[in-house]
Amino acid sequence: MKADFDFFNDWARDELNIELDAYKEKQLQRRITTVMKSSGVDDLKEYAKLIKKDTDIRKKFLDYITINVTEFYRNKDLFEEFEEILLKTLVPKFKDINIWSAACSNGSEPYSLAMILNKNNIRLKNKIMATDLDDGILAKARIGAYRDHELKNIDKKDLDRFFNFNNGAYHINNEIKDMVSFNKHDLIVDDYKKGFHVIVCRNVTIYFKNEAKDEIYRKMHDALVPGGVFFIGATESIYNPTEFGFKKLSTFIYEKI
Ligand SMILES: C[S@@+](CC[C@H](N)C(=O)[O-])C[C@H]1O[C@@H](n2cnc3c(N)ncnc32)[C@H](O)[C@@H]1O
Repeated sequence: MKADFDFFNDWARDELNIELDAYKEKQLQRRITTVMKSSGVDDLKEYAKLIKKDTDIRKKFLDYITINVTEFYRNKDLFEEFEEILLKTLVPKFKDINIWSAACSNGSEPYSLAMILNKNNIRLKNKIMATDLDDGILAKARIGAYRDHELKNIDKKDLDRFFNFNNGAYHINNEIKDMVSFNKHDLIVDDYKKGFHVIVCRNVTIYFKNEAKDEIYRKMHDALVPGGVFFIGATESIYNPTEFGFKKLSTFIYEKI
């Protein structure tokens, strides 16, 4: 079985340009097996052939292994903490700020950031750079239409102010949409841009092996300006922040030393 997964990972690297070796092995293998069986196949070589020739099967595979679960202001208390740090620490230091929302899924995260900036009149240097590995979810993010359960952390006032309701969905308005640009980026494979005052990278490194996660932290550190802030997910606390050149501002928010 291990040899089969080794073959499949090599194949995915060559054909799909994704680095499955970086993901936690057992968890990933379970997911691949489940999605493969749901496509009526029992063998990884057969499955690879099918993914190659059938775009629907390829999409289903990528959708399943990428895990796009997200919502606006995920862990609301942490976003409140982030907003406070933004106002107290970053805004007084930098005239206008550059933000990267990495592994942004359907846009709930970068649009949450855009609403915080809008409400506090904080100037952006460039549009918020929102990136994800998954083309399908990026297309959804660009449309920006959401259902009730994704908006449970947004109060009525902001819902009225930043969304238009039509055809059964809440559409993010153009003012907020214009503050964000969406691009494909793979945290494992692709180069990182530099010069960010804020990087938000939440609920994705939990899927990676320690070596891959550590490499991401090093690259994120490199991509930040000194004094820039790194905001991570609620299960992803960095145990040894100084090793990566970070100072802990709170359990899930770090500053580049
Ligand atoms: C669970 S969602 C997290 C979304 C959002 N950051 C949040 O916290 O709500 C994980 C996202 O990471 C993306 N992802 C997985 N592997 C990735 C990689 N190697 N590079 C970039 N994004 C990746 C998935 O496509 C998915 O949209």
